Amino acid sequence: MINLGIILIVMIFLIKYVWDLFFGKGYAPVEWEHQRKEGKISPKLLKLQKNYPDKIRFFNWWFQVERIKRGNVPGAFAELGVYKGESAAVLHHMDPGRKFHLFDTFKGLPAVDLANETGEAATYTPDRFADTQIAFVLEKISGNENILIHPGYFPDTADPVKEERFALVNLDADLYKPTRAALEFFYPRLSPGGVIFIHDYNHKWEGIRKAIAEFTATIPETMVLMPDIDGTVMIVKSGG
Ligand SMILES: C[S@@+](CC[C@H](N)C(=O)[O-])C[C@H]1O[C@@H](n2cnc3c(N)ncnc32)[C@H](O)[C@@H]1O
Repeated sequence: MINLGIILIVMIFLIKYVWDLFFGKGYAPVEWEHQRKEGKISPKLLKLQKNYPDKIRFFNWWFQVERIKRGNVPGAFAELGVYKGESAAVLHHMDPGRKFHLFDTFKGLPAVDLANETGEAATYTPDRFADTQIAFVLEKISGNENILIHPGYFPDTADPVKEERFALVNLDADLYKPTRAALEFFYPRLSPGGVIFIHDYNHKWEGIRKAIAEFTATIPETMVLMPDIDGTVMIVKSGG
């Protein structure tokens, strides 16, 4: 009798799981649903949205990219911290017509950046995130000629884009040194209305919090914290 009850409960959960998988609405803002019904979202982006684990992070990017497109904010996109290209694929397919500069060692976390880390980052070793390759990332993004890869240690790899202007920058390097260096590099090159996202703003990532606190003390904008899973700070450049 007890066994029958357990089997019944498992069956109910299984049926609900399969039903939600195929027919469940899930979390999607009304504006996304509207554009989807109008056929304005590419099949590639629809697929990425379905599989992306953090819906708040996904839609926060999407609303910012839509704002940037609507407002004709000029400049390229950039990302520091690409790893296997999961976030890069999403951002590229939100605006495939933009140049997108991707910065990563593609060989894991630099030992020199890990040296003085505390908190969660202090438990990491240089082989963390080393299991990737540029060819794999390009295949994963499956994008166009606007994807521009800058392999190596950032900020040493930033020189080729020092004359560039940026509309959107995604910082996801996990550590204090590259995050601080990237804020120093990208903020002056950010167009008015352009946005910088910094991922992992939470108690576990002391270096990220420190880099943001130090940097935002030097600029007029206020950082805005987003409620995605790991916490993202957004800085939208004023002026223009
Ligand atoms: C958390 S992973 C990025 C995850 C990726 N954004 C995603 O959503 O899938 C962090 C990446 O930052 C890179 N990284 C950290 N410090 C760096 C530096 N100074 N120069 C270049 N890449 C760096 C690492 O190689 C690693 O691939």
